[in-house]
Amino acid sequence: MTKSIDVSRARRETIACDEIIHFNNAGASLMPAPVSEALHNYLRSEEKIGGYETAEKYSESLEGVYSSAAKLINCSPEEIAFTENATRAWDLAFYSFRFKPGDKILTAVAEYGSNVIAYLQQASRLGVEVHFVPSDESGQIDTEALRNLIDDKVKLISITHIPTGGGLVNPAAEVGKIARAANIPFILDSCQGVGQIPIDVDAIGCDILCTTGRKFLRGPRGTGLLYVRKELIESLEPPMLDQHAAELITPYEYKMRQDAKRFENWEQFFAGKYALSVAIDYALSWGIESIQQRIYSLADLLRKKLSHIDSIEVTDEGIEKCGIVTFTSDTITPTEIKQALTVHKINVSTAKGSGSLVSFSARGLTEVVRASVHYFNTEEEIAYFIEILKTITEKGDPTIVSTMHGRRS
Ligand SMILES: Cc1ncc(COP(=O)(O)O)c(C=O)c1O
Repeated sequence: MTKSIDVSRARRETIACDEIIHFNNAGASLMPAPVSEALHNYLRSEEKIGGYETAEKYSESLEGVYSSAAKLINCSPEEIAFTENATRAWDLAFYSFRFKPGDKILTAVAEYGSNVIAYLQQASRLGVEVHFVPSDESGQIDTEALRNLIDDKVKLISITHIPTGGGLVNPAAEVGKIARAANIPFILDSCQGVGQIPIDVDAIGCDILCTTGRKFLRGPRGTGLLYVRKELIESLEPPMLDQHAAELITPYEYKMRQDAKRFENWEQFFAGKYALSVAIDYALSWGIESIQQRIYSLADLLRKKLSHIDSIEVTDEGIEKCGIVTFTSDTITPTEIKQALTVHKINVSTAKGSGSLVSFSARGLTEVVRASVHYFNTEEEIAYFIEILKTITEKGDPTIVSTMHGRRS
């Protein structure tokens, strides 16, 4: 049985919980105290004894990020690279593929905007064809359509697990099965998945996966991870190499590393790397199943309450829905809602622009409010959020809340 989260402890260890309601965990979550202490201690050490000297002092702990990440997603430490964010992690792998004119990339409608830009860049540089696999009626990738699109020109299947602009969880393992059967490499952008839901790269069947530190893992900004399956590392030469990724063996020859560190830079955000390893261990200590269970139950509650507000439409797609809750209102724009909530110390974000463009333009959406919960959020916070939101949206006036005095206890 999954153990339940000790919410009081989680909140005690998250200092901002006393001051704000943080429903922007899909943007950047709040670092828990042990993670921010690790970050500060590391920086303090750099200040006191020097950067190289601190890296030496912390060398074992810094290596810890690889074993912790490996445990988190069920791979070996040699298959993990530490990067500055999810986008670079993804880019480093994607731009290592040597596409030829006419090669096809299959992706999903809910693909992250930066990834689409990269496909289009390769399409214009190399003559690659990009195909968006249609969604099924629930909004998730239509796996039957994916299967039907496979032919010998398809050189990559690459999808986003959980999009930036909605609660959808794409059926990654079903996609993985199709990719494996066809022997086509499969990249999974699980930037919003890792730390929120259990990830097992073997069970999913992906060959490459990227994530970021700052979202559901609750690590520091400026950190990310790349996973590359062992069998693929050797065949992928990163678009850029330094002397950490490769070694100069004669004035005219270099040799690449055999592990995923060939995708890394020598110079890194060391304090962030250390703090990220603490964040992963912290997440593992709660248990990812427990985290998922709590997030899903809070998000269900939030969706249910939102659905009772007349002027609000919940815009999340999919059969499985996660902790990202998105909605629009007939009476007031998402940006106005976000600003009005700020007055009440409630953090949400809005999703608009490139990040969700393919999906949003297909659905006639331009912008949505994104309220994303984590396990340290509470039912009381949701009730307070709904109370404020009702007032803003029913009156259609974002300024109205600034005159309200209600504040959760
Ligand atoms: C699905 C998805 N992929 C990638 C990214 C980019 O992550 P990063 O900012 O760490 O590069 C995001 C960020 O919101 C995202 O939601």
